[in-house]
Amino acid sequence: MNGLEISPFIQSLPKVELHVHIEGTLTPALRWRLAKKNNVPLKYATYDELLDSYKVTYNHRKEVNGDDGRPTFLEVYFAGCQVLCDEDDFYELGMAYFEKCRAMNVRYAEPFFDTQAHTERGIPAEVVMNGYLRAQRDGARIHGVHSTWIFCFLRDRPFEDGMKAYEAALQYATVNNGKGLFHAVGLASNEFDKPPLLFEEAFLRARDDGLHITMHCDVDQKDAADHVHEAIFQVCTGRGTERIDHGLNAVDRPELIQGLLDRNIPLTLCPHAYHRRQKTEVLFSKIQKLLEAGVKVSINSDDPTLMHDVWIDGALQKTQTYCALSKSDMVQLCRNAVEMSWAPKDIKAGILNELDAIDSP
Ligand code: HPA
Ligand code: ZN
Repeated sequence: MNGLEISPFIQSLPKVELHVHIEGTLTPALRWRLAKKNNVPLKYATYDELLDSYKVTYNHRKEVNGDDGRPTFLEVYFAGCQVLCDEDDFYELGMAYFEKCRAMNVRYAEPFFDTQAHTERGIPAEVVMNGYLRAQRDGARIHGVHSTWIFCFLRDRPFEDGMKAYEAALQYATVNNGKGLFHAVGLASNEFDKPPLLFEEAFLRARDDGLHITMHCDVDQKDAADHVHEAIFQVCTGRGTERIDHGLNAVDRPELIQGLLDRNIPLTLCPHAYHRRQKTEVLFSKIQKLLEAGVKVSINSDDPTLMHDVWIDGALQKTQTYCALSKSDMVQLCRNAVEMSWAPKDIKAGILNELDAIDSP
């Protein structure tokens, strides 16, 4: 990982992950196995060729920079989803993530999922959610990793399709005697010309239903700072979102930083995701600026298997090293994640107790 080793201290920290797309944790090994099992053709003749495909650099902004033949991140991400077909596949995907969480000392997570990427391929939404629901239960029972998930609208698909997907998913929510899989809604997929306000009606509906609201504000996307502005000041009839996923472009405008502070809106940052495209000094000085201003942030992975296998522990390590943070700063970042989470009180208290017990000069 750019010559950085994960230190025993970072390894030992009890962690909470609030920004991870479950399909972005699909390992090449599981993808290969499920492709064979489900007879899904892959573009790669051998496993080594599949592995090599993870080394490509993406054309992140095809709409802005033009098509140079390289795939976008999301094209690769949705191609990976193709191998997920039956309930056991979704279960295995979830369980593999929780097993990895346990190895990294992640105690609690709020993974993003969506059903639209799968129903578009003819997979019933119940198949997806029954698999995740079993993984949620067994992840806690077998690996001791608790989770409550976040349903995402695919913002680059028609709004009506997202609402239909939401209606179908609602029986799996934590509210209205639902099955307890998810407690929040978010926005994922391509943000180009898809500002948060396009989903205002969906946010109002979800809030009425008793769910939490978060939304991606992708970094250096076209109109990025405007999207952060909408998320802070305009969505939910001007009350603003509860959390922002990414939102690093808040550093571009003082009123955005002030808005985050005044409204107590935290950011789920994914430093390695940005480090792929930004110079070390530029990126980490932005994160330092947010920290110095007092903006509450947590550190997360995003789509680790599609981002050089850098997981939350690697993201924390990079943050400590390149922001020159002390051990107690790192404990505070982990505390932020607990406080920003929507975990049940007893789970929050347990992790905070563990963090309090860490000796961190
Ligand atoms: N960005 C936006 N949407 C996504 C991502 C991402 O990194 N991963 C999965 N959906
Ligand atoms: Zn994300």
